Amino acid sequence: MRVIEEPDLGLTGRCVLVPTMGALHGGHWTLIEAAVRRAKIEGVPSVVSIFVNPKQFNEQADFDQYPNRMADDLAMCQDAGVDIVFNPAVEVVYPPGVDVISDIVIPKIATEPGLEDLYRPGHFAGVCQVVSRLFDLCGASAAVFGEKDWQQLGCIRAMSKIQGRDLAIIPAQTVREESGLAMSSRNLNLSDEARVQAVGISRALFAASSVQIPEQAESLMREMLADDGIEPEYAVIRDSETLMALADMSEPTHVPCRALIAAKVGEVRLIDNVPWTPIAYA
Ligand code: PAJ
Repeated sequence: MRVIEEPDLGLTGRCVLVPTMGALHGGHWTLIEAAVRRAKIEGVPSVVSIFVNPKQFNEQADFDQYPNRMADDLAMCQDAGVDIVFNPAVEVVYPPGVDVISDIVIPKIATEPGLEDLYRPGHFAGVCQVVSRLFDLCGASAAVFGEKDWQQLGCIRAMSKIQGRDLAIIPAQTVREESGLAMSSRNLNLSDEARVQAVGISRALFAASSVQIPEQAESLMREMLADDGIEPEYAVIRDSETLMALADMSEPTHVPCRALIAAKVGEVRLIDNVPWTPIAYA
């Protein structure tokens, strides 16, 4: 495995990329395994990028507190059989005096649903900018993203399409702890007490799957979260593709949906989502 800091990747112009911000955990592991497998089939290198992107953080404190576990990260990549770890400095991704980002198209799913876009203004602009840049620097022919960040996945898909990229976006299912808590680098900042409370998020999401009427499913999630002392920023059922609200929340629907929750638990902001299966008509 090679660790490089410059875009001279020695690549053939094609690779399978897993963009990350480091502090790698079991969720990343699945993405990395998928990339290594796919890269072998395509006969191209697998690349994991580790770059904590300053442009996607809304608060300086959140950026400053972002965990750094480089030695562990490199060990995980090595174990997984990754060919290249790309760990660029900020100046490599955003060269001073060079405008590498102003023409990046920000898709509607990054600004209109009123979910992460509302609570983290500008976040997806930062994500689109860095991912577009990483795609270019690495010459990615395929890239793997987690369903854990469902709106992010939708943004990247839409952006790649708008940019006309010849690049496959490969989704990977959310990896959970045994408790149901979705794995996240941010979980490292949860206190023992908050970690127990945080399980309420996935519990509410899974419970929502058993209710067939969207507005009732939303009520159930809010009630369950309240019982766990969690006040969500949002706890909603949305069209899984556009992430917009359904036309009629009081009727069963055929539209594939997603149940999504964002909530602060202690000092840590967590997001999670699951498929929400609409009623099946015989
Ligand atoms: P990061 O939070 O490090 O996540 C990197 C990738 O891992 C993302 O595609 C994310 O969806 C996925 N992931 C995180 N937790 C997961 C879990 N429990 N199960 C499955 N996949 C999981 O997301 C980012 O970094 C950044 O926004 C990035 C795309 C790298 C741009 O800076």
